[in-house]
Amino acid sequence: MHIGPYRLANRLILAPMAGITDQPFRRLCRRYGAALAVSEMISANPALRDDRKTLRRADHRGEPEPRSVQILGNEPAHMAKAARVNADRGAQIIDINMGCPAKKVCNKAAGSALLKDEVLVGRLLEAVVKAVEVPVTLKIRTGWDPDHRNAVSVAKIAESAGIRAIAVHGRTRACGFSGPVEYRTIQAVKCAVGVPVIANGDIDSPEKAAAVFKETGADAVMVGRAVLGRPWLFRTILDRLDGNSLTSMPSMTEIRGVILEHLHELYAFYGEALGLRIARKHVGWYLEHLPSCRSEFGHRFNAQDSTTRQLALIDLIFSAATQELAA
Ligand SMILES: Cc1cc2nc3c(=O)[nH]c(=O)nc-3n(C[C@H](O)[C@H](O)[C@H](O)COP(=O)(O)O)c2cc1C
Repeated sequence: MHIGPYRLANRLILAPMAGITDQPFRRLCRRYGAALAVSEMISANPALRDDRKTLRRADHRGEPEPRSVQILGNEPAHMAKAARVNADRGAQIIDINMGCPAKKVCNKAAGSALLKDEVLVGRLLEAVVKAVEVPVTLKIRTGWDPDHRNAVSVAKIAESAGIRAIAVHGRTRACGFSGPVEYRTIQAVKCAVGVPVIANGDIDSPEKAAAVFKETGADAVMVGRAVLGRPWLFRTILDRLDGNSLTSMPSMTEIRGVILEHLHELYAFYGEALGLRIARKHVGWYLEHLPSCRSEFGHRFNAQDSTTRQLALIDLIFSAATQELAA
């Protein structure tokens, strides 16, 4: 599949997740096979352009190409400027967020709230496409609520505006993250436009990925929550798509190595104080997937107040888990 001039190595994409898909996590998922890893959303608000959080979210050092940066806003001029600034900062693809249902975002009529106003959608997309030379992609939901499913109409507007790929999370804004995913609406989008369509929502296994490809006819699938604490899921899905019957589940040694490497990268990227806090979140997810891990370890990890103690506890957790497995 291509996005503008970029040919993706395969058809698996890491979903943008604010507070999660930072540079260390994107790099980890790319190493496990994701062909593209979209950044956390970056506000187009000019007042936030140079603040620390924005600059950190726009940091792509060491990331393989193509680097996709997601922007969020509702003012065509601000979005155009944000796209230019991020392209200048190294983004090779600009992704526009019209999928986020967060109240904080929707109250400002950005994210999925924009889907209500198709005229504004068209103006905003045209302004961004005109502003940059890099390809622009769009992420949407299937509509505002179950009575207003306008994904097909928005996708056609997007294609006319010059958008080069469209990701669809198969739920409406009102559905949040619950209820069944409407893969049929994604299929309808795929039938309606000629640009690549990326299917998203509840893909959590190789079998599910294969079923979603079959049901939607999508060009790629985008995976979000299912890779938290198991970035190797990309490799497992790829194996299945490549027809390998032996799925490559990681050994305990590999998992330990991944966690330690991830923690070192978080400390280096955020500094010790913030790195410690962010590490707790990720280790909580890793432990959920670790066979034979005692439940008390999660609490103990959260109580550690230095990088040295966090790293030492990971070693302890793994020797305990290995002994339990051997017993
Ligand atoms: C914690 C969290 C943060 C998210 N942040 C973003 C975001 O910044 N931009 C965006 O377009 N979608 C965001 N999403 C939505 C995901 O990209 C994705 O569409 C959704 O989680 C459904 O995919 P999944 O079932 O594979 O997780 C977020 C989702 C979660 C759970």
